[in-house]
Amino acid sequence: MLTSTRELLETARRHIYAIGAFNVYNLEGTRAVVLAAEACQSPAMLQLHPSSFKFGGSPLVALCLEAARQASVPISVHLDHSVAAEAIQFALDAGMNSVMADGSHLPYAENLAFTRQMSELAHQYGAVVEAEIGRISGTEDGLSVAEKAAKMTDPIEAKAFVAATQVDSLAVTIGNVHGEYKSEPKLDFQRLIQIRQNVGENVLLVLHGASGLPAELISRSIQLGVCKFNVNTEVRQAYMRMLRSERCAASNADLIPCMTDSITAMQQVILDKMQLFGSAHKAHLHQTPAAALLTNALRRPA
Ligand code: 13P
Repeated sequence: MLTSTRELLETARRHIYAIGAFNVYNLEGTRAVVLAAEACQSPAMLQLHPSSFKFGGSPLVALCLEAARQASVPISVHLDHSVAAEAIQFALDAGMNSVMADGSHLPYAENLAFTRQMSELAHQYGAVVEAEIGRISGTEDGLSVAEKAAKMTDPIEAKAFVAATQVDSLAVTIGNVHGEYKSEPKLDFQRLIQIRQNVGENVLLVLHGASGLPAELISRSIQLGVCKFNVNTEVRQAYMRMLRSERCAASNADLIPCMTDSITAMQQVILDKMQLFGSAHKAHLHQTPAAALLTNALRRPA
């Protein structure tokens, strides 16, 4: 079921678990997410990083949307880390459920202006907007942020930022990084508590860089209000490992068995994350798209 990101995240937050948002690049990745979600009856998000979005274009977006529609569990489709207004407009026109307007590379005032504009645009489509202040370090799909350019989220700035931009969700930087953790991961939960208090109950909190985070940090983050984790590296590594395996690397290898094996490899990682995030066996808690429409209509003032 193609489901709104708002419904997925609000329900997860209410019941104290988190939705895994998995970066996908192609049919194999998309199928791995849907099969894992169906296998453990979990809601999930399919998300496209700007580089895979640029590479795959509208056929890839259509693939994700159709896979979500055909799934037996609730799934939404999200544009991750977009710095370009045109890409966000394109994603919204295509029917994607949410976008991340990422102005974190910009000076604060420009980040605010960009995010506010994208927030107004996305809300016209009923889509959820995620933003980032502070800046997460690490490397992903050719985008690299050096440690010295990274900056933790300032709880005071966060309060003013969400009020001015009216974003729905905020990606926090509290020690999380994209890619592999070079030393034991440590999250600044005191900072997370302050951010939660400052931004208010209506803002949904998101944590990027969930690959490599141990179970205790994941569960503490959920207890403190995180309801979406982004996962890319561990799934991508499972895929790449399979491509290098003897069976796939052989000169006479067939493609379909190799694709099937890589789906199975990614599916296992995704399944483990769904258990860790507490979203496994929670599909039944989510509303069908028709029921969600009705709830939204009832919520609206006459
Ligand atoms: P990892 O690659 O560290 O899992 O992070 C993914 C992410 O945050 C995508 O936005």
